[in-house]
Amino acid sequence: MSLILGHRGASAYAPDNTRAAFELAVQMGADGVETDIHLTKDGIPVIQHNYEIDRNSNGKGYVEEMTFEELKQFDFGAWKGEQFKGERIMSLEECMEFAEKNMKFINLELKQTMHVDSPIVEKTIELVKKYHMLDRVLLSSFDHKLMQKAQLQCPEILIGALYDESEVKQNNISEILKDAPQYVADLGFDFANPHVDYLCEEGIVDKFTEKGIGVAVWTVDKPYIAQQCFERGVKCVITNKPDVIVKAIRAVCD
Ligand code: G3P
Ligand code: MG
Repeated sequence: MSLILGHRGASAYAPDNTRAAFELAVQMGADGVETDIHLTKDGIPVIQHNYEIDRNSNGKGYVEEMTFEELKQFDFGAWKGEQFKGERIMSLEECMEFAEKNMKFINLELKQTMHVDSPIVEKTIELVKKYHMLDRVLLSSFDHKLMQKAQLQCPEILIGALYDESEVKQNNISEILKDAPQYVADLGFDFANPHVDYLCEEGIVDKFTEKGIGVAVWTVDKPYIAQQCFERGVKCVITNKPDVIVKAIRAVCD
């Protein structure tokens, strides 16, 4: 498995986490996308990166304080360019429907929830199953406890532990930096999802590979870094610029 996924879609060129960004990533030859999930006030999983919608829509406020119908009123495209005007927030259901038909693979990132009893895991897994995507999904999160819950609920789904410097501090997962391959192996997860900076460590991909752990790395927009990643055995490269990375990797492989 060597995959190129659009980070939030082809987010360098289209409003992130919208249908337009997903369609463009697929057109550019990506195998699929990485995308982010939150739950609305009425418990609908939706595609959105930030906790609030101020950055990427003409609305204001927190996703978890609005219903899906309320969120649908806002424009999530115009901020990126007039040609994207009219893009609406997608539900995870709409995303999975698109993914089933158009993507080889999708990485679903569950954003952390403040509510311990949040059904975000159950609802996501339910939709993955409904669209027959169990063997084409990697579920990941900076919230490793949430991923343990997912693993218990659905042992057959691929699970990844996300980590980067700022999230390590915020989420109390600093243990991962002492020995990431061992940490992920102890959790019994299938993937490590490090920020690309962590791949500077000599032999780190081999250490994961020896333990049977795949590596999915983000965000890689430079062709030579993507080439290095795949040479070292990275399974999945996540990029804002699928066109650039697909071209570079094809040039090497052909
Ligand atoms: O899943 C990789 C990456 O998306 C994690 O960070 O903040 O872009 O969701 P973020
Ligand atoms: Mg993400």
